[in-house]
Amino acid sequence: MRIGILNSGGDCPGLNAVIHGVVGAATELGWEVFGFRDGFEGLLSPGDSLVLRPQDTIGILKLGGTILGTTNKGHFASRIGASGVSDTPTEVIRKGKQTLDDLGIGALIVVGGDGSLKTALQLYRQGWPVIGVPKTIDNDLQATAMTFGFDSAVSTVVDGLDRLHTTAESHKRILVLEVMGRQAGWIALWGGIAGGAKVILLPEIPFDLGKVADFIRQRDASGLHSTLVVVAEGVRLPDDDMVTIDEKTGDRVRFGGVGDVVANRLQALTGKETRACTLGHLQRGGAPTALDRILGVRFGVKAVKLAEEGGFGRMVSYQSYHVDSVPIEEAVHQLRTVDPAGEMVQVARSIGICLGD
Ligand code: F6P
Repeated sequence: MRIGILNSGGDCPGLNAVIHGVVGAATELGWEVFGFRDGFEGLLSPGDSLVLRPQDTIGILKLGGTILGTTNKGHFASRIGASGVSDTPTEVIRKGKQTLDDLGIGALIVVGGDGSLKTALQLYRQGWPVIGVPKTIDNDLQATAMTFGFDSAVSTVVDGLDRLHTTAESHKRILVLEVMGRQAGWIALWGGIAGGAKVILLPEIPFDLGKVADFIRQRDASGLHSTLVVVAEGVRLPDDDMVTIDEKTGDRVRFGGVGDVVANRLQALTGKETRACTLGHLQRGGAPTALDRILGVRFGVKAVKLAEEGGFGRMVSYQSYHVDSVPIEEAVHQLRTVDPAGEMVQVARSIGICLGD
């Protein structure tokens, strides 16, 4: 048996752990693994792939990024977000399948987020032997309680907040940290709680900056002169949400910048010196945490098991401490966002964190 693996979409810490798991488990079965470079693009003529043997994966567990490369653009179109998928052209699908057939690939493991898994689903429906592995720092995929990469991103947020905490204290300032996550507030919520933020603004909970300013004034009056504010990049301000919109589809395609706007407004409202910091791609790079490495390896091993069982069209998923699988279509029909009434939000409220509502 020969199997293929590719990473697609944005990178995230733990991708190499999946490759490590896949190569290890496949080798134990006596199988050969082909890694395709730069996502689905590696399937197009003349094909860009390499054979992955255990000796090729030595030392990769601790590496961020992916040794295979990835892309969130290219010929295999998929639109990220809740609004659906733009189909990959038939001719592109035919060419990619030809590469698989020429190499005698019996299963293709696609490691990707929402958009890439939508593409994987389309290819499965066209007869490709596809197995999905969920990947995203945003942790916003349905049908899996956690994706690898999320814990590493949250750790970076916590490290950032720890650093901002000391300088905010010294200068009695408000410090606003903008974090990733697209339309989902998981990174902001988990990172904010773990890093000791006093205000967390989420896309899922409409907020009023006037209320945030009141909260900060009360802190000041009680002798607490610095405040850490975490802002999820996908929050919407009534008049200016700093998101790039795709002119054709109306989709929100690129996030970034809202932290500066929030900081300027809080400074104007409170009269307190305020600074903003955007963590950006620091959250995507660097070594994965131990948890993400373990999750990545487990996902890789499970993907090989699915290949062995002929579980095509399924995606590896993590539920209640177990690695299992679900049909890919169950995972991609909608994003998993923070439940405003959920336990983590309650925890934040219980410890006095202001959510601006
Ligand atoms: O989906 C992962 C993610 O890191 C988001 O949190 C962020 O908005 C986006 O990707 C950034 O994408 P790019 O690397 O294409 O700018």
